[in-house]
Amino acid sequence: MPLTKLQKKLRGIPTIAFWVIIGCWLALLPVIFNVPGFSQQSVTVSLLVRALEAQQLQPLAQEFNQQHPEINLQLIEAPSDTNQVEDLYTASFLLGNSPYDLVFMDIVWTPKFAAAGWLKDLSSYLSPEEFEKFLPGDIQGGMYQGKLYRAPFRSDAGMLYYRDDLLTQAGYQPPETFKELITISQDLQQQGLAEWGYVWQGKQYEGLSAMFVEVLQGSGGFWVNPETLEVGLDRPEAIAAVQFLRDTITTNISPPGVTTYAEEESRRLFENGKTVFLRNWPYVYSLASNSPIAGKFSIKPMVHQENKSSGACQGGWGFGISATSKHPESAWKVVQFFMKEESQKKFVLANGYVPSAKSLFNDPEIVAKYDHYPTLLKILENAALRPPIPQYAQASDILQRYLSAAITNTMSPETAMQKAAAETRRLLSVSDQ
Ligand code: GLC
Repeated sequence: MPLTKLQKKLRGIPTIAFWVIIGCWLALLPVIFNVPGFSQQSVTVSLLVRALEAQQLQPLAQEFNQQHPEINLQLIEAPSDTNQVEDLYTASFLLGNSPYDLVFMDIVWTPKFAAAGWLKDLSSYLSPEEFEKFLPGDIQGGMYQGKLYRAPFRSDAGMLYYRDDLLTQAGYQPPETFKELITISQDLQQQGLAEWGYVWQGKQYEGLSAMFVEVLQGSGGFWVNPETLEVGLDRPEAIAAVQFLRDTITTNISPPGVTTYAEEESRRLFENGKTVFLRNWPYVYSLASNSPIAGKFSIKPMVHQENKSSGACQGGWGFGISATSKHPESAWKVVQFFMKEESQKKFVLANGYVPSAKSLFNDPEIVAKYDHYPTLLKILENAALRPPIPQYAQASDILQRYLSAAITNTMSPETAMQKAAAETRRLLSVSDQ
């Protein structure tokens, strides 16, 4: 390099340093002198959401961020099984100072999270008129000891999907009882109209308990009475419910792999035309409407034992605010935004989920797009909560283990349910003391 150029460069260094120092000072001025407006930085509030839903919620999150430049809402993608997400939130609370200001909560987490003191009481944020706007099951599922800890966003209820084209072709009405479902399945399979009759969630996870609640209710049984803590798992009705599930596999109407399926695996089989019946949640409706079986299926309440009534498991997701959140007011703004009818409506129209706001079931735009909403409302009105007890996660874990043993043929339904009942009683009596 010629000397003159080097000299020029060296001469430039003090000038650069000078401007860097001036720049830093200018940037710090508002902080040093606490100039209003300048010192206010945007606060980040984050929450974990199952991957599919995080993507579906993204447009609303972007809208929120545009409307609230002072808040930066971040959705962090989590695994797809509800209990895996629950474990992640639980671990973050146990470690203290959870990084999540908000908790996107499954309805079954409320008693545990509230009893542990991990959530803020949201009761005073809502007026009595606002409580009235939501489906009672969704409000009830957000309460613990008379206080609201989870604000409802979207509702959920289990139902039976069926291929009405195939049923019509074979001259059948949709089934009402377990027995009819088995008979129709076998006949349609024999006629070569579908490979499988019935697909459900048999993997050992929360979805198995949710699905079982429906078969249990349809058999006239119960799991745990939340008032008396009585356990009904070893009663004849519960054993008959397990027997029905096992029969679907031994009679070949359900694939052996059903014992490893969660919602998504079972949805795919239905969409690919491989099965006549499917048990799943309402989110499947709009996805299946863009699949090879579009226009060929309907929904109805779950089948049941003769002389018993149908059971739908109440599911759903809403928002809690972490007790340790440093930005509870910003977090509440997020909750308010997602709860309002306008946001729910956008989410429902785009993704086919079920709103928690009652008025949306008669919204002309929603009904025009989803004509199954009246049926859905009927199913939701009769939906049953899984036992709302603080020990729910452990109780469900016990049930999942023994159900899995029974449906994979490693234990008889009687033995499995006797053991599940005994362990559940132990759990409830120990934690009751
Ligand atoms: C759905 C329900 C939820 C349930 C889960 C089980 O997401 O909304 O309540 O626990 O499925 O897989």
